[in-house]
Amino acid sequence: MKRTYLVAGNWKMNGSRVANAALVQGIRAGAGACKDVELLVCPPAVYLESAAQLVAGSGIGLGAQTLCEQEKAGAFTGEVHGAMLKEVGCRYAIVGHSERRALYGESDALVARKFRTAQACGLVPILCVGETLQQREANETERVLQRQLDAVVDLCGIAAFGDAVIAYEPVWAIGTGRTATPQQAQEAHAFLRAQLAKRDGRIAASLRLLYGGSVKADNARTLFEGPDVDGGLIGGASLKADEFLAIAAAAQAQSI
Ligand code: PGA
Repeated sequence: MKRTYLVAGNWKMNGSRVANAALVQGIRAGAGACKDVELLVCPPAVYLESAAQLVAGSGIGLGAQTLCEQEKAGAFTGEVHGAMLKEVGCRYAIVGHSERRALYGESDALVARKFRTAQACGLVPILCVGETLQQREANETERVLQRQLDAVVDLCGIAAFGDAVIAYEPVWAIGTGRTATPQQAQEAHAFLRAQLAKRDGRIAASLRLLYGGSVKADNARTLFEGPDVDGGLIGGASLKADEFLAIAAAAQAQSI
């Protein structure tokens, strides 16, 4: 099954109007060389609307870094509803990033609600899952991935994964410069795909599984060689156009 690679830039809480314009301009300038790869940028919420104008007509998509789990908009101070994200031009929404889980106490159940709300609003959720170093060392990686995945499957059903993306992001590799080996990434991806395949083989085969965690220009190519690795969720390296494009080029090389 041939899946279109997706390379997504998670800018986290970085950027400014001036910096975003330069970054998008740089990515646009080189995006033509990666025509078989879907490119996505996820700026902070406050910049989504201006970023939508910056990417307009380029084929580069726009994603939100999180969204409110509430189905209906209303009295939820500080939150942003999925319909608002959709209205300003988002196609995707990241849910369950490990920083949200660890720093803002997002539980598996809350992440599942965000996933459901994203889809209800017409956004494609990018569900992040991944184990901590302690969990990996205790041989609990698969158990953790299963738990994080099951929370969403139980609430939303397997059919919901027909229009979703999963990002495997080992917490110990995020922002640390310590990348999973291509073999570790492939193993985790194969495990996730196999779990989905138990419920629906067709959906499992077509779902895109991204790897995230210290992906850089110089390690992207070997990471993307894994047969179950369909692209990357890129943090730090997505803030430099050249580096992000080099990662996209590594995905492009696998696409042909
Ligand atoms: P990193 O972040 O590439 O800086 O490790 C990845 C992520 O948090 O999605």
